[in-house]
Amino acid sequence: MLLNNIEEVKKNIKEWKKEGFKIGLVPTMGALHAGHLSLIKKAKASCDKVVVSVFVNPIQFGPSEDFDKYPRTLDADERLCNREGVDIVFAPSPKEMYGDAGRLSNDTLTYVCPPFFYVNKLCGKTRVGHFDGVCTVVLKLFNIVQPDYAFFGQKDAQQVVIVKKMAADLNVPVEIIQCPIVREESGLALSSRNKYLTDEGKKDALVLSKILNNIKTCYQKGITDVSALKETAYSFLTDKHELEYLEILDKNTLEEKLHADNNSIVLIACRVEGVRLIDNTYLGGI
Ligand code: PAJ
Repeated sequence: MLLNNIEEVKKNIKEWKKEGFKIGLVPTMGALHAGHLSLIKKAKASCDKVVVSVFVNPIQFGPSEDFDKYPRTLDADERLCNREGVDIVFAPSPKEMYGDAGRLSNDTLTYVCPPFFYVNKLCGKTRVGHFDGVCTVVLKLFNIVQPDYAFFGQKDAQQVVIVKKMAADLNVPVEIIQCPIVREESGLALSSRNKYLTDEGKKDALVLSKILNNIKTCYQKGITDVSALKETAYSFLTDKHELEYLEILDKNTLEEKLHADNNSIVLIACRVEGVRLIDNTYLGGI
């Protein structure tokens, strides 16, 4: 069932709660691919009712980012959700979510601001205000859907750490379930933004997973010095790649370390053909 209206979603949720159903929420911005699908399948397997939100959230995009050209494929998304037995596809308009605030500022909207320590690095460093926008919309979705479980991908590793922190700090009664990264056979992590790449660009984009795999191999051979591990990346980069960051941090707290260990995560952001791509891997396995 496709719903655009918050009150209608709430009405269904109220009925489900009365029945004692376990509710799962999968927040997305649509243009659904196999990565999203893995979250939906996990939700279906563990919950009685599943809500997938499809909302390209204007307040998490910076003024020079791709909000306007972000792929919007609601009909296909709805078909895919129906095939998976999703109970509600919630696809509100920006007006439904934020009223007349339009293209937003915190002059007119209450925002959720995650802690500086978690946002002043990685994607948060260049995407200023991005995680305020993410946390604000995710908390709104939590309040509308009141899920027992909410499903997020490790693909956006900083996002899932921050959402977990927000839920804990604000006592939101939801369990965040983190799901592994789904990749193409080539190793490229699936992303709605891969649609912006040419075939050539997709080949160049393999550098992200190659760098991550190489660092993992070096770690497994016994190199733990973070600078030495990061150094190994440079031989993979060409003038087709604009590296934004490569970091090795604690996977739960995002703290920097001098030496990598089994709790470390390697995170990379790199532009290819002007498209900003991110990827990551755990050094100690899942
Ligand atoms: P979106 O980019 O659509 O991603 C929705 C969810 O799918 C996120 O939890 C993301 O980590 C997960 N995902 C994306 N690619 C994946 C892949 N290759 N493997 C596994 N999971 C993958 O992330 C957002 O939307 C938004 O910021 C949102 C949380 C919906 C708030 O607006």
